[in-house]
Amino acid sequence: MKPLEWIDGRLKFLDQTKLPLEESFCETDDVVFIADAIKRLAIRGAPLIGIAAAYGVALASLSLNRSMIKDARPHLLSVLDLLSSTRPTAVNLFWALERQRRVLDAWQSDSITGLQDNLLNEAKLIHQEDVEMCERISSIGVELLPNDCSILTHCNAGALATGGRGTAVGIITKAWELGRLKHVYMDETRPLLQGARLTAWEMKQAKIPATLIVDNTAAVLMQQRKIDAVIVGADRIAMNGDVANKVGTYSLAVLAKHHGIPFYVAAPVSTIDVRMGTGKDIPIEERDAREVTESFGKRTAPESVHVYSPAFDVTPHEFITAIVTDQGVHRPPFSASLKRLNVRREHAG
Ligand code: MRU
Repeated sequence: MKPLEWIDGRLKFLDQTKLPLEESFCETDDVVFIADAIKRLAIRGAPLIGIAAAYGVALASLSLNRSMIKDARPHLLSVLDLLSSTRPTAVNLFWALERQRRVLDAWQSDSITGLQDNLLNEAKLIHQEDVEMCERISSIGVELLPNDCSILTHCNAGALATGGRGTAVGIITKAWELGRLKHVYMDETRPLLQGARLTAWEMKQAKIPATLIVDNTAAVLMQQRKIDAVIVGADRIAMNGDVANKVGTYSLAVLAKHHGIPFYVAAPVSTIDVRMGTGKDIPIEERDAREVTESFGKRTAPESVHVYSPAFDVTPHEFITAIVTDQGVHRPPFSASLKRLNVRREHAG
């Protein structure tokens, strides 16, 4: 199942807010609709947000014709701004938009169709590169796992979050294909339940034996020695190895360290922010209080209660055993290892 596809000048995407009850697709040629889909998490997961945004810029260019040649640049710059404002934490978004900005910068203001072709080709390239990065991460990451292992994962870093087979989940499905995986445990991932709704759905599709737990059960499972490794994705990785990912990742990492369990982060190099020395400056999205005070449309907390709901947290690098990228496995000291990576400096946000 592809979460996102370019079909005849339109973007078709799976509305992930409807899973697992409905597999409902939207098709659009409207970049505002795409920006809204990213905001409301119909399209989500760091790499997929970047891919969708890149297609969004290409779509916006398609609404231009020759008579609008003078307005093309300011119009597309405002589209870049619109897409940049959707979600602040996943750096893949800014990385992909910066690539489109460079295509626009290189345009000689001559042919509109030339610009349209170049923006679409860049979006398709970003998409294809992500498919390949997921494959490499999965093949590299699986080598870290012992035979017959049980893995705990958080949120959804699978095919629904990327252009390909996923990052953390890509390693898991690869381990399953190679006969090395015994079991997967999935955190439900409060408050939006990406683990329960999305990872559990992916595991079911792949027929992988998997058990859903509430987030608070992770400690008990580790104490019972049921977890051989934790693998999570990332939304932004700083150059010292600090990792922003779905809130709750940090607690898992602390628990894993306490129990002597390896804690792995899997992400493409597009998730590494070369301009971010440490994780302390990573912008963390705060979500609407209603995501915490309501469940399934029903109020579960008193009216006017104060809520603090960061969507992500930053796991300090000292809790991370290794970071698996498409360019290899990085171990502490991460500063030295990440510096050697070949990362294009395309992070604008
Ligand atoms: O808020 P979401 O669902 O977009 O958060 C997703 C995550 O935190 C993922 O772990 C991360 O983006 C990596 S996806 C390969």
